[in-house]
Amino acid sequence: MTQNVLVVDFGAQYAQLIARRVREAHVYSEIVQSTISADEVRAKAPAAIILSGGPKSVYEVPAPSLDPEIYELGIPVLGICYGAQLMAQQLGGDVANTGIGEYGRTTMTRRGPSVLMDEWPASVTCWMSHGDAIATAPDGFVVTGSSPEGPVAVMENVERRLHAVQFHPEVAHTERGQDLLSNFLHHVAQIPPTWTNTSIIEDQVAAIRAQVGTEKVLCALSGGVDSAVAAALVTKAVGNQLTCVFVDTGLMRKDEGEQIEETFTRQFGVELIHVKAQDRFFDALAGVTDPEQKRKIIGELFIREFETVARELGKGGEGPRFLVQGTLYPDVIESGSGHAANIKSHHNVGGLPEDLSFDLVEPLRNLFKDEVRHVGEELGLPAEIVWRQPFPGPGLGVRIVGEVTRERAEILRNADYVVVDEIKKAGLYRELWQSFAVLPAVRTVGVMGDGRTYAYPIIIRAVTSDDAMTADWARLPYDVIEKIANRLIREVDGVNRVALDVTSKPPGTIEWE
Ligand code: XMP
Repeated sequence: MTQNVLVVDFGAQYAQLIARRVREAHVYSEIVQSTISADEVRAKAPAAIILSGGPKSVYEVPAPSLDPEIYELGIPVLGICYGAQLMAQQLGGDVANTGIGEYGRTTMTRRGPSVLMDEWPASVTCWMSHGDAIATAPDGFVVTGSSPEGPVAVMENVERRLHAVQFHPEVAHTERGQDLLSNFLHHVAQIPPTWTNTSIIEDQVAAIRAQVGTEKVLCALSGGVDSAVAAALVTKAVGNQLTCVFVDTGLMRKDEGEQIEETFTRQFGVELIHVKAQDRFFDALAGVTDPEQKRKIIGELFIREFETVARELGKGGEGPRFLVQGTLYPDVIESGSGHAANIKSHHNVGGLPEDLSFDLVEPLRNLFKDEVRHVGEELGLPAEIVWRQPFPGPGLGVRIVGEVTRERAEILRNADYVVVDEIKKAGLYRELWQSFAVLPAVRTVGVMGDGRTYAYPIIIRAVTSDDAMTADWARLPYDVIEKIANRLIREVDGVNRVALDVTSKPPGTIEWE
């Protein structure tokens, strides 16, 4: 059985990052809210508990707390930042509001042996972010590390298996942070590193088989990584019961449809229904310029196309009973931040209707995006699909300002290909959150050869981000921008000028519409 670590969420984004780092140590982790009771913890029988950091001070009212009985369950606990201060305060130590605090890179000095910091040097650089500081450790705890403004940067009660660190081991700026988490998980809590891509696949394949039995399964492929990996898992489990549907809206990226056919039909041997619906989409979008209306039209037509296929397959009563969805863990976490809910409602555009009477198969429900990509690789999906940047449900439609026509979609598709191709050649594709081309609704005058041109500009949009809630414009090297610009004008008919979008989010959004 997979052993579980509970990451208690005290707010902000810290819990997700911790949960991911735990999984990088090959241990399954689950995020829970700080209101969880000792009984609920007991019922989940975790092998360890990690208390996350959070934006509050333990002195604020109300500040999130923890059922103190949880410390008495005999389950190893690691408190981080706010979680460390809370543990100190609840167990009888002292947290001081010094008014000084530590932010960013800080030197932590070791004080004696520690199972968390086995074989570490005498001092290491850590990432701190705290206003309050633990002044006195509770009885029974030994202080094993301190920093200039944090006399108790690390405290441990080995007997009770309670440990706490003021710094953030989950962030990359903390030297040896991952090592500290591994030591806690593998040595303090004695959890074996068994959460691997292979075990994820084996567990999911067994779960899918148990869920669907001999029934038929339907899956909508979008070209994105989530639906592709979900489909690949279902293929491995019950491939001959699966039918995949790919609705080509005419607003996909270059070669997307061909690549899906190649992978799923030829490589995996899955039944694939390729709905070539471009004409119907362009007809419905003719003359429409309002962004929200365009989104609505694309979303509704997508649903109609999908329903038609589902109904066709259901004729004679032998249709599929299950529908595969590529829901990811961040979409289902009941996080105090409310971020998950926001992102999800945003992404519903282009999603599937709720009233289709299917039972859902969601094999990625427990996984983070990076895990999904690794599982996809292990399942043999091509790197182009597995490492693809996010792409909006309405596709190129939200990047064509003004009317969406066949011709304008073709210009943008070709331009998008050039941007992405050069970004890939420069080795930047994976580190950027998204990089693409935008087609505005204006035309500009230019000269080419001997003649005057009157054609579209293309805007290069490239951003870095962790979760799409905020983003920064990417500082692309000048020579990469130059190559993209030259190729756009040379290779893409209908383009005579190139501009670069240098807007962050906020105030801009990532997409243009
Ligand atoms: P914005 O433009 O709001 O985008 O900064 C944030 C992220 O969401 C994607 N996006 C969408 N995804 N349907 C989707 O499935 C949509 O209608 C949609 N609009 C934006 C966008 O690509 C970015 O990753």
